[in-house]
Amino acid sequence: MQDGRNGLYSRRPICYKWRVTPTSTHRLIELLGSWRQGGGGRERLATALRSLILEGGVAVESRLPAERTLAAALGVSRATVTGAYDRLREQGYVESRQGAGSWVTLPGGHRSASDAIVVGPGLDMRIAALPAPAVLEELFAAAARELPRWLDHHGYDPLGMPPLRRAIAARFDRRGMPTRPEQILVTNGALHALDLVIRAALPRGRRVLVELPSYPAALDALRAAGARLAPVPLTQDGWDVAALEAVVQVHRPALAYLMPDFHNPTGLVMDGPVRRHVVRTLERAGTLTVIDETFVELGLDGGPLPPPAAGFGDGRTLTIGSLARAARRELIRTRRAALAQALDERLPAWRYMLPPGGLFLWAELPDPISTSLSLEASRHDLYIAPGPRFAAAGLLERQLRLPFTLAPDQLERAVEILAELTPAGSVRRVPHALAGYVA
Ligand SMILES: Cc1ncc(COP(=O)(O)O)c(C=O)c1O
Repeated sequence: MQDGRNGLYSRRPICYKWRVTPTSTHRLIELLGSWRQGGGGRERLATALRSLILEGGVAVESRLPAERTLAAALGVSRATVTGAYDRLREQGYVESRQGAGSWVTLPGGHRSASDAIVVGPGLDMRIAALPAPAVLEELFAAAARELPRWLDHHGYDPLGMPPLRRAIAARFDRRGMPTRPEQILVTNGALHALDLVIRAALPRGRRVLVELPSYPAALDALRAAGARLAPVPLTQDGWDVAALEAVVQVHRPALAYLMPDFHNPTGLVMDGPVRRHVVRTLERAGTLTVIDETFVELGLDGGPLPPPAAGFGDGRTLTIGSLARAARRELIRTRRAALAQALDERLPAWRYMLPPGGLFLWAELPDPISTSLSLEASRHDLYIAPGPRFAAAGLLERQLRLPFTLAPDQLERAVEILAELTPAGSVRRVPHALAGYVA
């Protein structure tokens, strides 16, 4: 066995569970909201806490406040909190250890949700992408006309063609982030870029800070590289900066993966001051931050976006992005309106914020039925990614991402199917952490 100093092995057994992120008591009280409605007591508190865990308001592996602290903050007896924690322990949602406190777990351990649906003919809403635009044909033709100019060259530009790198750098300049062409690497898309970053900079087994919810393909790539994910919940107001600071302090993540511009799947935008704070906090901790701004060109309501997040740092923040065309905005706006109208008419109990950009909305269902609804929908040829696909540890059963990339009549049909599969009896309004997340 090697010596602990080289970081490979340690003589003392390491209990990773002790390195859990604390949940702020103040934040937990806010999230619990009106949990007392209709009674209070240990059962009701346990139910409210379990809902928060299942919906991702409290991240798996985060430490719960001490019983005494939570009791004082809630103004209930310590026995109520002890009883609620006991109940959650019995059900597998909480583990405790003397001296280390209590932390959130899942019954049966962590599992990452998979699509579990084989594509067939029908409406595919698992992919948030539009069909290729007609202009692509013209672009290919123009590129083919340019080709002879490049044939006297060996063709190997591992960092990308110089004129393209110059054009991308100039675009960042215009957006307020001075950039030199030498800082640009052209890839086959945003996921290719993420994969390169992971290979270059993420040793197996290291912690990676991710948002909860986050983009499934990025979570898959990180998991496949052996990353241990440390999720930071997003609230209706956006990024929970205190929770992010706690994750950074406790885990010192090697990497952070964030989407401040029309976040996938919520459509939220991180404001300027939060960008500055988040990027600087991560850089100070030595975390390599990856900003995925794939949707940055898809603002739909005309408002200005804050400058690129990486511009607030001093060089340890990478930006990855993709290609989008302004010409598609009108089409996307029409489809967003069609989806919103269908939801308002057919599923008024579903809550959502109309996103100011991007290609999807993040709906909150009245019941935690996301996976079963998606499976049921697939039997009606509607394919849809359930909430847990977007979670680092398989939660978010009350959420569903609905892309507005299909044609309006297809979106109407999709909502019709979902409405038919959501029995009226299962729809009930409940006090919930994301109440107010509605437009
Ligand atoms: C946040 C995010 N990043 C990256 C991608 C993939 O981008 P690309 O097709 O350029 O690899 C997507 C696709 O939906 C995405 O939503």
